[in-house]
Amino acid sequence: MAILVTGGAGYIGSHTCVELLNAGKEIVVLDNFSNSKPEALRRIEKITGKTFPFYQVDLLDQEGVERVFSENQIEAVIHFAGLKAVGESCQIPLKYYHNNLTGTFYLCEAMAKHGCKRIVFSSSATVYGMHNPVPFKEDMPLSATNPYGYTKLFIEQILTDLHTADPDWSVCLLRYFNPIGAHKSGLLGEDPNGIPNNLLPYIAQVATGRLPMLSVYGNDYDTPDGTGVRDYIHVVDLAIGHVKALDYMMDKTGVEAINLGTGHGYSVLDVVHAFEKACGKPIPYKIAPRRAGDIATSYADSSKAKELLGWTATQTIDDMCEDSWRFCSQNPNGL
Ligand code: NAD
Ligand code: UFG
Repeated sequence: MAILVTGGAGYIGSHTCVELLNAGKEIVVLDNFSNSKPEALRRIEKITGKTFPFYQVDLLDQEGVERVFSENQIEAVIHFAGLKAVGESCQIPLKYYHNNLTGTFYLCEAMAKHGCKRIVFSSSATVYGMHNPVPFKEDMPLSATNPYGYTKLFIEQILTDLHTADPDWSVCLLRYFNPIGAHKSGLLGEDPNGIPNNLLPYIAQVATGRLPMLSVYGNDYDTPDGTGVRDYIHVVDLAIGHVKALDYMMDKTGVEAINLGTGHGYSVLDVVHAFEKACGKPIPYKIAPRRAGDIATSYADSSKAKELLGWTATQTIDDMCEDSWRFCSQNPNGL
């Protein structure tokens, strides 16, 4: 029996494959490489010394998805595959809705047909919207402000409805805060296409000289230094959270939404300074206007993950920046 990892060649998926293999699990990986490269799979094998079946299949290809289930005994799915760029989701919303929603429908249909009713879904802190007080707790009201966020909200609802209709389903909605960092080996890390939208990959490209300077989006927020505060979490801590979630849900049915964050917030300038320490050089930056859709502060109440999964994040902001820097400096052209 194996765990199917959709989107397993991507940033969080590849780190999770490593932790699953290290925990002695069998995996099958599916990805269409729309935002990743085959090299990530070779690196997973290099780190773990293990091999696994891989399918270059698009979740929108219903026959391809069916083939994965008919050729393997899948006992649970970790579902990372999806498009994730907030700005792009506003420009091409139909592509986002089609890829993320239709892809999930086909996946769940194949699962139901083959009697596999356990799914861990990559949700996001974005579902807490603009108006909740911090720290964000799982039972707070949810909302979205862009098509990407709506896909997360809708899929959470769809998976909840699946369980309502058939109580044999076991659904874990993992709400990630801000994953950063890289594998300690320097072999795996975040490798975005084009100019990065997110803070850490942007800073990393300034540090390697690919970009001239960082724009800090706003320094007039109601935060200690005026810049936005986020709950940055090491991607390996996040990956381990998936292994724990899987173990937790194996002998249970139901739906659980669980935050994966550290419970601590760091400002944009805190991250800039931690990265400067890690790479040993200054990161030039300028203060720019606020970015539309940003909130001042986001961090998790992470007590539910501790209670249910026995999981807490262990790595510090310095670890995250050191590991990101190691990956970027060892792989200046990405994977
Ligand atoms: P990523 O883009 O690195 O990984 C996603 C993977 O899915 C990629 O390898 C891509 O090629 C694949 N994929 C996309 N659509 C597919 C399809 N139709 N069929 C097959 N494969 C497909 O992203 P990531 O950062 O690893 O994120 C993984 C998941 O976690 C996503 O669902 C994302 O929305 C969610 N998430 C990410 C963050 C973050 O900040 N990185 C935060 C919250 C939630
Ligand atoms: N920021 C800058 N300059 C940049 C990029 C970002 O100042 O060039 C600031 C932002 O304004 C924000 C902070 O850095 O204050 C973090 O921004 P990111 O874009 O790295 O992350 P977000 O919190 O905006 O969003 C990310 C993902 C979302 C996900 C959310 C919660 O992009 O998809 O984390 O998981 F929903």
